[in-house]
Amino acid sequence: MNSTPSARISKIYLISRLFQSLKTALVNPKKIVRILKKQRDNFYESRLNSQWSKQDYILKEIDHCDKAFYETNKTVPEIEHQVGRYLNMKTICSQIIAEGLDGDIVEFGTWQGLGLILFSRCFSNDNTNRKFIGIDSFEGLPESSTIWIKGSFDNTSVELTKKNIQSKFFQNQSFSVELIKGWFSDPSVKEKLSSLSKEIALVHFDADLGSSTTQALSLIEPYLINRTKPIYFLFDDWGCHPDEVPEAFLSWLSTAGTTFKLQAHKLSSTRFTRYYKITFNN
Ligand SMILES: C[S@@+](CC[C@H](N)C(=O)[O-])C[C@H]1O[C@@H](n2cnc3c(N)ncnc32)[C@H](O)[C@@H]1O
Repeated sequence: MNSTPSARISKIYLISRLFQSLKTALVNPKKIVRILKKQRDNFYESRLNSQWSKQDYILKEIDHCDKAFYETNKTVPEIEHQVGRYLNMKTICSQIIAEGLDGDIVEFGTWQGLGLILFSRCFSNDNTNRKFIGIDSFEGLPESSTIWIKGSFDNTSVELTKKNIQSKFFQNQSFSVELIKGWFSDPSVKEKLSSLSKEIALVHFDADLGSSTTQALSLIEPYLINRTKPIYFLFDDWGCHPDEVPEAFLSWLSTAGTTFKLQAHKLSSTRFTRYYKITFNN
């Protein structure tokens, strides 16, 4: 088949580039070594990435990881996410303990329990009675939107999550765990949350979707009325898509700021997460 003139020119160009690279590689063995080293690093990074995507591996390793480990390995996406968020979670939980801030830990989007288990470790030296409350459909995402696909994260169940929590949660007499199964929009979820918790210190928003984040924020509103003590809002998935979590929080904030006399102070972030301290003028 005859090729078009532009295709012939590109073929000639590509072949000449190939010869040039071969010539450079032969003349410059250092370049070959560099290419091989890069391949080896890519292989090493992708192996690390796959290890750091598994709950058991994360929980086995994460307490040995400090800021220096994070800085050296943050090019590995799962290390950047898991270690990065854990170091920031630990700083905030220590701040909550130091401030003597009572209240429960509520997570919207619990999946297989990793977030709650990480929080139990962050509060390991805390003697305050706290409930760790995980709220999830345990059926995956309710809808598709931007990058998210309906039904993702349906590889879980209340039983599996309970089992993970029973075996991996930091054992502390002052802690108890409650799981609420249901869609955030279901009125029974609101009732269960209000019967379980009278005061909240920290909310982990980890439900991917903007719509779910908006529903979660409205479930938290009763806890903000006439509030004087701070509350911490930790958003996962912030960096995944601007029209999802950031849009949901920032548009909520534009009215909630005046309704509840609150201000949001950004504390820390990673590629995917953004953590805030919320203070009140009441
Ligand atoms: C990314 S996963 C949570 C990950 C978990 N927190 C962790 O640290 O491993 C998101 C979860 O949000 C839940 N979810 C999202 N929107 C929801 C909604 N509107 N109602 C109930 N659950 C929802 C999904 O079922 C899914 O399990």
